[in-house]
Amino acid sequence: MTRSITGATAVAGVAGSPIAHSLSPLIQNAWIKAAGLDAVYVPFSPPPDRFSHFAEGLRGGAVRGLNVTLPFKEAALSVAHEVGERAERAGAANLLIFNEDGSIVADNVDGLGLLGALASQAPGFDPKAGPAVVMGAGGAARGAASALVMAGAPEVRLVNRTLARAEVVAGAVGGATRAFSLDEAVRAFDGANVVVNATSAGVASDDALNLPLEGIPATAVAMDMTYSPLITPFLSRARLLGHPIVDGLEMLVRQAGPSFEAFFGRVPPADVDVRALCIAALDAKAGVKA
Ligand code: ATR
Repeated sequence: MTRSITGATAVAGVAGSPIAHSLSPLIQNAWIKAAGLDAVYVPFSPPPDRFSHFAEGLRGGAVRGLNVTLPFKEAALSVAHEVGERAERAGAANLLIFNEDGSIVADNVDGLGLLGALASQAPGFDPKAGPAVVMGAGGAARGAASALVMAGAPEVRLVNRTLARAEVVAGAVGGATRAFSLDEAVRAFDGANVVVNATSAGVASDDALNLPLEGIPATAVAMDMTYSPLITPFLSRARLLGHPIVDGLEMLVRQAGPSFEAFFGRVPPADVDVRALCIAALDAKAGVKA
């Protein structure tokens, strides 16, 4: 990068722990470069128990904003002075904006990422057309369920190994949200329009979700919120069964656009294939591991 950093350079970033794996700096800096902005997007890794001190220290606008990733999404909500509806309903923020008056505004654009990924990789998908199934009951599942409720899904069915956790999330999300145990998955899959994997199972290949996917209607879209590997064991099984599939990388890229807009006040340049950049980075990482 030949660009020089000056006192006028706008700064934004992403905070997580760990952060080294994050693809957000690759995406945002590629857009910054293509747009010719005097800006930089920096990865930060505050100590896990010090997020609020870290965020407090950025108040005043020297840093425009932050994307927030694991494990700080809930903490990000609690440092904010103003919380948008999307973040409120998701129970988490993945975007903080630092205003010059010292206030912090929390938003959550993960839902836009989820819906944007569905629109781009499963054209014709309509969230209003039928029940949605979300597998999992952690922060990712709550975010997905709240986005689908807000997009008009007539019912959201949360399927989780620990039923009690799914019941808590269903209560928090509200709307027509119901909890199911893994044993009840076949009932949850009945008539589903989309099935979203929001569990961490299958991130390691020996830990794959072992659910009867054959019960999912053939036309239902299968989506995974994780992207390493890009085609997760869940997506691989769903693809073999003939389902349209949507990957977690597309969701990451689709939430990055509204984040860029919030930081820099303009849409990202359309002529950069950030998805291809990310796939190359993921391949390089897999190559190193192999
Ligand atoms: P996050 O906040 O990132 O969504 P999390 O709170 O750790 O992460 O949640 C992980 C989810 O994956 C949970 O729903 C977990 O199920 P439990 O609530 O029963 O723990 C689910 N999960 C993880 N490994 C799993 C496995 N092998 N089989 C089924 N579900 C699994």
